[in-house]
Amino acid sequence: MTRDWYTEAIFYEVFVRAFADSNGDGIGDLPGLTAKLDYLQWLGVDAIWLLPIFPSPLLDDGYDVSNYFDVHPDYGTLDDFRHLVKEAHRRGLRVIVELIPNHTSDRNPWFQASRDPNHPEHDRYRDWYVWSETDDRYRDARIIFLDFEPSNWSYEPLRGAYYWHRFFRHQPDLNFDNTQVQQMMLRAVQFWLDLGVDGFRVDATPYLYEREGTSCENLPETHAYLKRLHKFVDAYAPGTMLLSEANQWPEDVLPYFGDGDEFNMNFHFPLMPRIFMAMAQADRTPIEQILARTPDLPAGCQWATFLRCHDELTLEMVTPQERAFMWDFYAPEPRMRLNLGIRRRLSPLLDNDRRRIEVVNSILLTFIGSPVIYYGDEIGMGDNIWLEDRDGVRTPMQWDGSPNAGFSTAPPEQLYVPVIDDEVYGYQRVNVMAQRAAAGSLLNWMRKLIHIRKMHPVFGHGSLRMVAAKPSAVLAYLRATADETVLVLNNLSSEPQAVTLELPAYAGQVPVDLLSKTEYPVVTCGSYAMTLDGYGYRWLKLS
Ligand code: NOJ
Ligand code: CA
Repeated sequence: MTRDWYTEAIFYEVFVRAFADSNGDGIGDLPGLTAKLDYLQWLGVDAIWLLPIFPSPLLDDGYDVSNYFDVHPDYGTLDDFRHLVKEAHRRGLRVIVELIPNHTSDRNPWFQASRDPNHPEHDRYRDWYVWSETDDRYRDARIIFLDFEPSNWSYEPLRGAYYWHRFFRHQPDLNFDNTQVQQMMLRAVQFWLDLGVDGFRVDATPYLYEREGTSCENLPETHAYLKRLHKFVDAYAPGTMLLSEANQWPEDVLPYFGDGDEFNMNFHFPLMPRIFMAMAQADRTPIEQILARTPDLPAGCQWATFLRCHDELTLEMVTPQERAFMWDFYAPEPRMRLNLGIRRRLSPLLDNDRRRIEVVNSILLTFIGSPVIYYGDEIGMGDNIWLEDRDGVRTPMQWDGSPNAGFSTAPPEQLYVPVIDDEVYGYQRVNVMAQRAAAGSLLNWMRKLIHIRKMHPVFGHGSLRMVAAKPSAVLAYLRATADETVLVLNNLSSEPQAVTLELPAYAGQVPVDLLSKTEYPVVTCGSYAMTLDGYGYRWLKLS
């Protein structure tokens, strides 16, 4: 049976603006990204996910779309995009773009017409957005961008009415009760499929419909539309991958897979903070608990897992006590906090401690799901919490030690945001070129683990069973298919651990370390003992 590619893929999330600037204007662009595809192929990832590249006023880095059918001039042209897709495919890399159905920019011509009764096209677009005479409808819907917006309603004087927005006030929500809106979004999908994309990361899926007396999240109407999206895509371009961004509890995410007829993939949001929590507490319990709450998926479906992304490290899917703990531990300075989260990158979160960075990546690459690596985390890039909103984790990729980190030839003051230039994470020290040359670098280590993961499909679609290792500082699990079994051990504590585990079902088998090739003593019916260094990890094939 051939498996769907995404069940075994490693994804790489790229902010085009941040990656590589080809024309010296201080802004990363599509030709710049295309020129770096050899690097991504060398790294070994299978698919690139591009943050929004559409025309936009960029008040939310492109999640405020003003035209769904073109490329932002900062990033290039549609031809540049075609070329990117061709060059990516030539290297065996797949290309995923964003679909942002829930809202548009307020500069989108649809909204311009909708808000203004004197606009020549007002009648056509009047009901494309969610309008109300008052601002007291849908009271049970939470506010997401808590640090920026006091309400989900904003007043539009031209129309003399309020419009609904789940995110920034400049991002009015489209009205999915309107059949023209429903169709227009499918037309946008078709447009990008025609350009050859391999899939969509669909933004903010829970919020498409609003109904009084509900949280306006995960509504049946929303699922019905998303199934229609799946059906459309399946008929038009079979094999296209749909990945949903639903920041919800596992039981609420499950319906987004449908019976395999809604999304192929969903991010596993609640797992992510629990990896950090388990590390902070040197105790696997948070990971164990969320796994126990994670349902089996329909055939052909897969989780997308991640450690960091372009947004704040979200703490929406934890209890208030857990959030307080996480803020205390990982965001001691108020400026590190944003909305219900933490605006820091992976390496600074882990104090730039190579051992901790390795063990969390060991978990990411061997636990359930297909991993998504955030650009720059493969070299341990830093952040700048003093930039606005989430810009601090979206700084230019650090290619080498030359001015502007080799990202751009523009004068430094012209860069879209400054490069990281501090004593620990500055581009002079942390960059691709230096790390490629250093055999023991984080980058070369990441590449090695990526390649090993890819040689063992068990990590993509094997079952996962927790092993009750002692002590609880060790996160241990078996990944298994009919062909292969791998035992993974991760020490979440800085202290070395003498681990014991019971593996009677595997008595007689010999564990061989996939990373070091070391052979360990044969497994017996009794308890099996092993020692792990502080933050040590092992991927042990049983054979
Ligand atoms: C989720 C995206 O990841 C985030 O960056 C964006 O601000 C919101 N959706 C609104 O589109
Ligand atoms: Ca440029």
